[in-house]
Amino acid sequence: MNQSTGTSYAKIILIGEHAVVYGQPAIALPVRALQLKATLTPRRDRQRLIESTFYRGHLEVAQFPFAGIAALIDALQAFFGASTQGFDLRIDSQLPPERGMGSSAATATAVIRAWYAAYETPLSRSALLDWAAVSERAIHGNPSGLDAATTSATAPQWFVRGQAPQPIAFPTSGALVIADTGTMGQTKAAVASVAAKLKAAPAQYQPLITGIGAAVATARTALAASDLPRLGAALDESQRALHALGVSSAALDRLITAAHSAGALGAKLTGSGQGGCMIALAQDARTARRIATALTTAGATAVWTHQFAESEALV
Ligand code: PMV
Repeated sequence: MNQSTGTSYAKIILIGEHAVVYGQPAIALPVRALQLKATLTPRRDRQRLIESTFYRGHLEVAQFPFAGIAALIDALQAFFGASTQGFDLRIDSQLPPERGMGSSAATATAVIRAWYAAYETPLSRSALLDWAAVSERAIHGNPSGLDAATTSATAPQWFVRGQAPQPIAFPTSGALVIADTGTMGQTKAAVASVAAKLKAAPAQYQPLITGIGAAVATARTALAASDLPRLGAALDESQRALHALGVSSAALDRLITAAHSAGALGAKLTGSGQGGCMIALAQDARTARRIATALTTAGATAVWTHQFAESEALV
């Protein structure tokens, strides 16, 4: 094992969360301003020590939510025939945890990259996503794979479960204002609550899933045509369905209303909901600043702005 590092980014789901679990498409983008870095240093003894915001201590006794990453690390060590290799793993993250920004998938992505780099082994995209599914399954129960696909990418992604993610072009104008409610999203609980609703009343809830899929298709057309008002309407449409699925919250609804009043073209929760973050679409930088101020006034604990021009390059 060599000393190594691995990096990844925060992700924002533009549209398609929850429905993506059931085979509908989704669009998500990496936010390069928020980075995560894993630094792996071999030790001479057999101790496996973690230093991160989630967990600090021995790998063997890591609890939820780090237990999923611990399972991933065990599997990586076995894969490299180095189960007894001691190490210090440090994770430096600019991502708020459990806010729908893909913190767990970003951690997995950076850890996998660090391990492959430590053993000077090339890593394909599909192998990376297979590895990330190990911890994402342990943490989220039934992950679509969207988070890992986006935190490991440098361009926005069109994603359908079970298929290779595809980069998708974004307009060069427009911006997303991202605001944190300050409360934890509960990905596992939110995904399970949608599953329970679909099982109990499929005739009532299945059309909402299909409706989100249709809004994602509209968003794709709008992105290709740089039609920001149409994109905003698609975001609003998906928020109505997410609300009806029971995954919004009073704090999210308050921020979404504030964004609309400040001139957003559309606004919705992002990620699993029931807390976490929301996004608002702004037609230009000036409106984005106005929306950001309104969101802070309405109680957002943190606000970030992502200009679409930053997503332009398809790498
Ligand atoms: O809350 P996040 O960022 O982990 O996003 C979850 C997205 C869901 O569609 C709700 C679940 C999934 O696995 O895609």
